[in-house]
Amino acid sequence: MATRLTTPCSSSSTNFSPSSSFNNEAKLFTRFISMPRKYGLSTWVSHIHSKTHARKHFLLNSSNEHPLNAFSLQDAGLAGNPLAKERIEPPGKERPSIPMSEAEKEESTLSITVVGASGDLANKKIFPALFALFYEDCLPENFTVFGFARTKLTDEELRNMISKTLTCRIDKRENCDDKMDQFLKRCFYQAGQYNSEESFLELDKKLKEKEAGKLSNRLFYLSIPPNIFVDVVRCASHRASSANGWTRVIVEKPFGRDSESSGELTRCLKQYLTEDQIFRIDHYLGKELVENLSVLRFSNLVFEPLWSRNYIRNVQLIFSEDFGTEGRGGYFDNYGIIRDIMQNHLLQILALFAMETPVSLEAEDIRNEKVKVLRSMKPLKLEDVIVGQYKGHGKGGKSYPAYTDDPTVPKDSLTPTFAAAALFINNARWDGIPFLMKAGKALHVKRAEIRVQFRHVPGNLYKRNFGTDLDKATNELVLRVQPDEAIYLKINNKVPGLGMRLDRSDLNLLYRARYPKEIPDAYERLLLDAIEGERRLFIRSDELDAAWALFTPLLRELEEKKIFPELYPYGSRGPVGAHYLAAKHNVRWGDLSGEIYE
Ligand code: BG6
Repeated sequence: MATRLTTPCSSSSTNFSPSSSFNNEAKLFTRFISMPRKYGLSTWVSHIHSKTHARKHFLLNSSNEHPLNAFSLQDAGLAGNPLAKERIEPPGKERPSIPMSEAEKEESTLSITVVGASGDLANKKIFPALFALFYEDCLPENFTVFGFARTKLTDEELRNMISKTLTCRIDKRENCDDKMDQFLKRCFYQAGQYNSEESFLELDKKLKEKEAGKLSNRLFYLSIPPNIFVDVVRCASHRASSANGWTRVIVEKPFGRDSESSGELTRCLKQYLTEDQIFRIDHYLGKELVENLSVLRFSNLVFEPLWSRNYIRNVQLIFSEDFGTEGRGGYFDNYGIIRDIMQNHLLQILALFAMETPVSLEAEDIRNEKVKVLRSMKPLKLEDVIVGQYKGHGKGGKSYPAYTDDPTVPKDSLTPTFAAAALFINNARWDGIPFLMKAGKALHVKRAEIRVQFRHVPGNLYKRNFGTDLDKATNELVLRVQPDEAIYLKINNKVPGLGMRLDRSDLNLLYRARYPKEIPDAYERLLLDAIEGERRLFIRSDELDAAWALFTPLLRELEEKKIFPELYPYGSRGPVGAHYLAAKHNVRWGDLSGEIYE
């Protein structure tokens, strides 16, 4: 049976089948890192940063113990900005080996303010994720959730609105209604203007009422359009920052439209916040299979030696949706699929996939390695990319609209709803290996996956059994991120019997068969990380700069030259140009047909 080494609340929790020696190592490590309380304040700062996060991954206590005795960067003499306060925990505090007393727990509060509370994302993802964390007992004892938006609503109306989207875990329906009621009682609403300091002062008053003089930690989730990020951050930091605990802000993409606007956004946000307070969310990093990528590679001897140009022929990162931009055309037309999916979700996965072994699992060590990958890549050119846009299509008596049929999209829009790109990493490990990305809306299937195609077996003894298409006989590792999470490795196998017939088969880890428990939504993991101050899965500003540097010249060229996207029918496999692009690099896109789902 698997042994749980952390509580379920620990987003970095590690579940291992027990090896007694590992458990002993873990215990020793725990003891080692919970000792050093002798450090003075100045030593603490660097010590905390180098130790606490590493601890998270091996240490095995509840992540949910709400830290106390906090002091701000200001108190520590570290703040670059007088308004920016980030609490620093003393060593041994963030995952205390000594559980907190009831009195300590009672002395602190967490207030989560969802700015843009009446929006789609807030209702579909953020409130349900917060409820799921509450349901799993992952939120601290004293917490409140505030919705903030322009619409005038009462607390009751907010509760009604969000109660419609809350669901209980499939495998844990007991007390669901009670839990929902308890959660909803902790939800409140404040109407206000996003650029009004008075509105945030009002919010501050209400927050203080709920905090009742306790140490207050405040998390703001900006679920709003990017053009008002800075206004909200200014007002919140001037009027609604925590006076004695930490203040953190989660920012949703898009983080700008190109290098310039992204740099400007970062510069403006940093007038009010330190980098440590900004949590740039990329929800793909919170997906289970993406989290598992590093575990698969770094904790299994069989994979790491193969992870290079010596054995891997190409890597494919595929995102496909079987619906169009329905209802989001206004937003989408300003960004397009490259900015919406490639520059962030797929590029983040690529960086995690290709990075060198980090020094530790600490956030900065991982992010350092990811940045190195991004900086080793050459910016994309027009010839490395093909773009497409879906057109209307009738199928089975039903008609599907074209992208430009959306009333919020200009009729002559050239915005790509599909793109395929070939990227290269100029370093010793990956030189010459194509990393192919494909992302599209209104395609035939909803799927996100990572495909690793290995090289041919040199001098293969069974060559004759494969026919002329040796590509079909190479091994392929597939991480299906969604839906129906799975990891499978395509291998060649003898069909049982007296003859010598070979068959293509799969070593298959289908999550729903092996782990019947429902997988938490990416937003749950990321919200919990932000509450805990764990930055590993959030984007640092230099990562963001490097990501934009790769795509900005291409985006500019596409727009300046008014490149016409290749049209593809709604519900099809996308433009044929994607196949030519792959063929140019000797690649064939992984075939989805005939693959295992059982
Ligand atoms: C968002 C994009 O970041 O991710 C959307 O803006 C896209 O266009 C969505 O639909 C996909 O997320 P998921 O988790 O449903 O795959």
